[in-house]
Amino acid sequence: MSHIDALLRAMTLSEKLGQLNLVTADQAITGPSVGGTTTDDICAGRVGGVFNLWGLDALRRAQRCAVEESRLGVPLLFGLDILHGFRTIFPIPLAEAGAFDPDLWERTARAAALEAAGEGIHLTFAPMLDIARDPRWGRIAEGPGEDPLVGEKFAHAKVKGFQGDDVSRFYPLAATAKHFCAGGAATAGRDYAAVDVSERALHEVYLPPFRAAVAAGCATIMTAFNNVNGAPMTAQSRLLNGYLRGRLNFDGVIMSDYAAVAELVEHGVAADQTEAAAIALNAGVDMDMVSGVYLAHMPEALARGLVDPRAIDAAVARVLRLKERLGLFDDPYRVVRLDDDVKDTHRALARDAGRRSATLLVNRGILPFAADIRRIAVIGPLADAGAEMLGPWFAAGAAENCVTIFEGLRRALPNCEIAHHSGVAIEGDDESGVVPAVALAEGADAVVLCLGESAGMSGEAACRAALGLPGEQRRLAERVMSAGAPTIALLSSGRPLTVPWLFERAQAVVATWFLGDRAGEAIADILTGRFNPCARLAVSWPRAVGQIPIFYAAGSTGRPFDAANSYTSRYLDCSNEPQFPFGHGLSFARTTLSNLRADGRELTTSRSTRISVDVQNESDVATEETIFLFARDRDARVARPLMELKDWRKVVLAPQQPATVEFALSAAAFAFPGEDMEPVVEPGDVDIFVGLSADAATLLSARLRIVSA
Ligand code: BGC
Repeated sequence: MSHIDALLRAMTLSEKLGQLNLVTADQAITGPSVGGTTTDDICAGRVGGVFNLWGLDALRRAQRCAVEESRLGVPLLFGLDILHGFRTIFPIPLAEAGAFDPDLWERTARAAALEAAGEGIHLTFAPMLDIARDPRWGRIAEGPGEDPLVGEKFAHAKVKGFQGDDVSRFYPLAATAKHFCAGGAATAGRDYAAVDVSERALHEVYLPPFRAAVAAGCATIMTAFNNVNGAPMTAQSRLLNGYLRGRLNFDGVIMSDYAAVAELVEHGVAADQTEAAAIALNAGVDMDMVSGVYLAHMPEALARGLVDPRAIDAAVARVLRLKERLGLFDDPYRVVRLDDDVKDTHRALARDAGRRSATLLVNRGILPFAADIRRIAVIGPLADAGAEMLGPWFAAGAAENCVTIFEGLRRALPNCEIAHHSGVAIEGDDESGVVPAVALAEGADAVVLCLGESAGMSGEAACRAALGLPGEQRRLAERVMSAGAPTIALLSSGRPLTVPWLFERAQAVVATWFLGDRAGEAIADILTGRFNPCARLAVSWPRAVGQIPIFYAAGSTGRPFDAANSYTSRYLDCSNEPQFPFGHGLSFARTTLSNLRADGRELTTSRSTRISVDVQNESDVATEETIFLFARDRDARVARPLMELKDWRKVVLAPQQPATVEFALSAAAFAFPGEDMEPVVEPGDVDIFVGLSADAATLLSARLRIVSA
């Protein structure tokens, strides 16, 4: 008999339910307070895992209760939200997605996992894989942006980074793919709101990143809070038992989100907590996060005949297997040993990740700074704001470790006179600082205007209906720009902001998102030209909130926009085009593409066709470019999106260097869910588009044909 079977046999019902009980220790508040746990519960075997607790001593004390005092000595699982760093904080995921660099995505996950496992954590509630096309939704900051292929590659890289390659054990951390699924499509971009998406959108857009996470061996999956197409995800057997367990053969742990089992009553699908417990377990949810409903009400559900005891055993076995694969039965006090220089290595990685994630949106020749620049005014409420640079979900990160933008510039340019005035606060209506800020701008060779949101304005429960600059920042910016010095605006935010007036007037704008600990160094590297920016937008940047949801992979219409015909798809008062398309991002180089060609005109499923394009760096600076391959299937029974990302390549070019970039494309890349949602490839014409962003006007194109073979 296996160790796990033996344990299961020995367990009382209460001990079994204890293994399914995931409780918060409230060291970080990540949801409404529902009451913490007590050591008594742990000692009594009524707790399977604890999250929001860190610090080796605290973890050891809790583990000792479980291992030495509970009857069967089953170790606790320690979880935490490690989204973009544990102590060293890396850029928020939406920004890092824009690096389009799976190797970087994996390395930052690995670094975060090592730091956390070095302090006794076992499980991260990451990666967050919600495809999001609505920047009103604050949680867009936590995920990979709008595109399912980016989501898939991001999922794969992050799971590998957190867990390593060996699926039989999770090292250094176990990962959680969340939030399954479609929470990014919450109605009107409001957190926790219901989602109504077609079956096709589920299979084409929202499920693929989770499929990729499962294929990469992801240990656990967390359900979304939302009601999706009529059923709360915590109760959605069709997608949990059906899709995850049945179709993908996922055999890891499925957990609810924070108190979501109890919330089934508020959703109106469970009459009481006993029903809630039964519905969630029967839907496939193994662990109950925070609500304590399984522990308190499952016995009654059993007595009422609402659940099968074998379903409880199966869930407990999955939790125990997770603990086994983490090595907790061998060493419950497991702490991963770290190299002595790990902090320095991670700091350097955070700086590099930061500069690879900052997107140069506009540059009217002002960046990089000229060598003779002497006086710089650093103005705005985000200029010297360490805590804000961490962004949402900063785990054990600390403001005092952050290099602010002001500090980063001072370190990078010791011979310049650099002065700072915040002018206004991020929010609020106090304008008394505007006049001194403008006075500072007046005498400067350049103004670095640091605008944006606070870290707390994105992430969970941080949705916005208006996406302009909060408070009096616009007034400050306009007054400062009127002072006449060339102005570089930096936008710190967890989402695109609709500030068309700023894009028109500033000499340069950089989306600096929330870049983490090393934000100031990374930004200074770009402004001074020490690093040539290479990030691209992982999300379309709207001009106006009314355009949302906006994404490049739009569905077809029989009346595409035609300026000469008003009965075509358009607004009366706004362009259809985003402010910046998906994939947009400037560098200091000038790169051109030409001569798109394919080895043959036919695409088959049995072998791939080579697609090539010539790339030329026409400037005197080295550059790293991202070349995107999009496609449209022009002839399918299901109307396909106008463009879908099929692949991308990165290429590093020396000054004036030419290169040829190649893609291997097969008909399999054109598989789409057929009527039964199983993948099909249909013969017919396809267009391929290659370019530096999804801007249709700049893409090279070629027509190929899918043939059956
Ligand atoms: C969030 C999850 C998070 C959990 C635990 C919830 O409120 O939705 O993303 O993992 O709290 O902190």
